[in-house]
Amino acid sequence: MALFKSATREVPEIRPVPRHIAIIMDGNGRWAKKRFLPRVAGHVKGVETVREIVRACINEGVEYLTLFAFSSENWRRPAEEVGRLMQLFVSALENEVAKLTRNGVRLKVVGDLSRFDARLQELIHAAETATAENARLTLSIAANYGGRWDILQAMNQLAVTQPEKTGNWTEADLEPCLALNYAPEPDLFIRTGGEERISNFLLWQLAYTEFHFTETLWPEFDADALKAAIVSYQKRERRFGRTSEQLTGDVASAQDGTDARP
Ligand code: IPE
Ligand code: IPE
Ligand code: MG
Repeated sequence: MALFKSATREVPEIRPVPRHIAIIMDGNGRWAKKRFLPRVAGHVKGVETVREIVRACINEGVEYLTLFAFSSENWRRPAEEVGRLMQLFVSALENEVAKLTRNGVRLKVVGDLSRFDARLQELIHAAETATAENARLTLSIAANYGGRWDILQAMNQLAVTQPEKTGNWTEADLEPCLALNYAPEPDLFIRTGGEERISNFLLWQLAYTEFHFTETLWPEFDADALKAAIVSYQKRERRFGRTSEQLTGDVASAQDGTDARP
C-alpha cells in the first residue's frame, strides 16, 4: 500500500489548508540589483525569507514544505555565484539545525547530492539524521534537483530492482523510487519573482497541483504573502478530472468520482 494517494490513481482527500506546499524561490538576484547590491546579497536575504516561511507554514498547519534552492541547471551560473551559494548552504546547515529541532522541523535534502563536495554531503547527512524524529513540519530542500533527473533516477532504480517487469512498470512501481517518496503530492505550488514556468522542478509530482504565481521577489515574500497564496488556493475547485456537478452534487446522476473507465 502506498503511503499517500496518487492524484492520477485515486482522488486524494482535500483539506482547506494545503498539506504540502512547493515553492520556487525566485527573484533574489533582481532584488539585489534593484538595490545596487551584488546578487549574493539577494541570496543572503533569501535565507531570512526561508526562516520566516518555515515559521509561517508551521503556524498555518502545513505539514510539508518543499523549497527549490538550486536546480540541476544552476551550475551554468558564474562559478563565483555558485561558490557563494554553496557557502550559504553550508552555513545554513551549520547554524540552523538546532533551531529546526526546537521548532519540530524534519529536514530532508533532495537532488543528486553526489555532485556536492564531501563536507557538504556530510553536513546534509548529519542534519537529516539530527532532525529525523521531528514531526511538525517536513522541510525538503531541493538542491541539484531536476524533475527529469528524478524520473530518470527512479527508472534506473527500477531497472536494477525489478528487471523482470521491464516494459510493464506502473506508476505504483515508480512512485516509491522518487526523491519525495516520503511526502504527499504538493497541493499548492508557488513561484515568486514573476516568471511563470516550472524550470524543471517537480515534473511528476505537480500533475494535479494548484499553481500560484506572484510578482513578489523571494526576499520580499512573507507570512502575509503566503497567507494570500493559501487563500487563493482555497478558492480553487480541484476536480481531478471530474465534473463540477460531481463535486457539488448538483446532478442526481453525478457519480462520486470512482473511476468509470470501461
Ligand atoms: C533564485 O533567485 C535563487 C536561485 C536560483 C539560487 P535568482 O538568483 O534566480 O534571482 P533572479 O531570478 O536572477 O532575480
Ligand atoms: C529556478 O530558478 C531554480 C531555483 C529557484 C532554485 P531559476 O532562476 O534558475 O530559473 P530560470 O532560469 O529563470 O528558469
Ligand atoms: Mg531566477
